[in-house]
Amino acid sequence: MPHSFTRRHFAKLAGSLPLVPAVASAQATVITPDSRCFPPDFVWGTATSAYQIEGSVTAEGRGPSIWDRYAHLPGKIHGNDHGDHASDHFARYKEDVALMKALGVTAYRFSIAWPRVFPDGNGEPNPKGMDFYNRLVDELLANGVAPYATLYHWDLPQSLQDRVGGWQSRDTAQAFGAYAGYVAQKISDRVKHIFTINESATFIDFGYGSGPVEMAPGLKLPQAELNQVRHNVLLGHGLAVQAIRASGHADTKVGPAENIVACVPAIATPQNIRAAEIATREMNGGYLTAMLEGRYTDAFLAYAGRNAPKFTADDMKIISSPLDFVGINVYMPQHYVVASEDPNGFSLLPFPRSFPHMESDWLRMGPEAMYWAPRLLARNWDVKAIYITENGTSGADKMSADGRVIDLDRIMYLRNYLTQLQRATAEGVPVKGYFLWSLMDNFEWADGYAKRFGLYHLDFDSQRRTPKLSAEFYRQTIAANRPM
Ligand code: NOJ
Repeated sequence: MPHSFTRRHFAKLAGSLPLVPAVASAQATVITPDSRCFPPDFVWGTATSAYQIEGSVTAEGRGPSIWDRYAHLPGKIHGNDHGDHASDHFARYKEDVALMKALGVTAYRFSIAWPRVFPDGNGEPNPKGMDFYNRLVDELLANGVAPYATLYHWDLPQSLQDRVGGWQSRDTAQAFGAYAGYVAQKISDRVKHIFTINESATFIDFGYGSGPVEMAPGLKLPQAELNQVRHNVLLGHGLAVQAIRASGHADTKVGPAENIVACVPAIATPQNIRAAEIATREMNGGYLTAMLEGRYTDAFLAYAGRNAPKFTADDMKIISSPLDFVGINVYMPQHYVVASEDPNGFSLLPFPRSFPHMESDWLRMGPEAMYWAPRLLARNWDVKAIYITENGTSGADKMSADGRVIDLDRIMYLRNYLTQLQRATAEGVPVKGYFLWSLMDNFEWADGYAKRFGLYHLDFDSQRRTPKLSAEFYRQTIAANRPM
């Protein structure tokens, strides 16, 4: 049937039906290009992380991280890849800032490698530890790009793992707080936005639990110990917030960069929207909810039972230290939700096998997550400032003989997600900025260099950077301040 429905049929049908009913058109809102724009002061950025791009893993006194160790274990990473050289950003940071400038971004989210600053995780700082980040920050500012720094993007100093069991110990949370205070003291004269921890849920479930993918340090802890790791990471976040407030300049703004479990009403009835609100609170019970409320939900504790983390009232106060903003990484809908009679008030629907996804199998194509995630975050916890700290997709990017990468799938993905984000800002959801993952192709953890998320293509042998078509899409989008 679809084959026999030609364009001529459509023209005929269109001609015979009034496409816009007369009454409705008289009252319809006029959609102008302006009404599709983001707010005038919207922050446009790109994002990366230290281990994924820097390389130079022994330069200027850097100590080893758990990722250096893990990536060199045979068979752990696709193709036995590792981050020793990665995108060679440590040496090429000036060239990379020029790439940002060419896009017209006004902000850049990067991460600081903890083992560059404290090679052993705590104790004596490396005197050269901050030099690279000082150079980078100065270069960004000289080019009109505001630096947004993440303190922890998974590269824990190996020494902490060896000596105290990494995040299994509260000592690591304390060490993280001290490192955060030290960094804030050194850079908050110029870096006004600091993210504490990137995607706790991912590195905990995959690095310490039995997530579908394995990450460093490659442990598979029983549930009670895993819950304690979660708690220690939350504590580390809270201690870092307090240390930044104590040691940083007074105008330093701080918040997490969490991969919120995005719950989307399957059909947007008032009942299902309410169910999605409840689901957002419960499904983020181990992370964002604890941070924003200073308590684990009853359902979280009941579900954990005797495996619940051990904590004090004081811990929960630290964990819920007031934030200036909440950063969320949004790639896809995690759950579609409907209202339910059961005591939870919601149920999560199963995904059909045919649900569309992007090149990475896990990356579902569900742009409406970009509307609902910030809307429900703002609604549940009255959050006044939200950043989308990551969004983007991998693609089977192929360079043509004439040196072009026509990544139409990435453009389609970005346009649809940004359209939904604009829908949110137009309705008053307080999203202040968007950081596209990623500036350039880089080391994609267990997938090595096989998955490319960049706006710039990298030839990892020559380290040549080439803009993909999506770089032009993003440049035009930023210039127009609306999805193009
Ligand atoms: C989220 C992580 O923060 C980032 O490191 C990773 O590369 C992207 N997701 C894509 O998987």
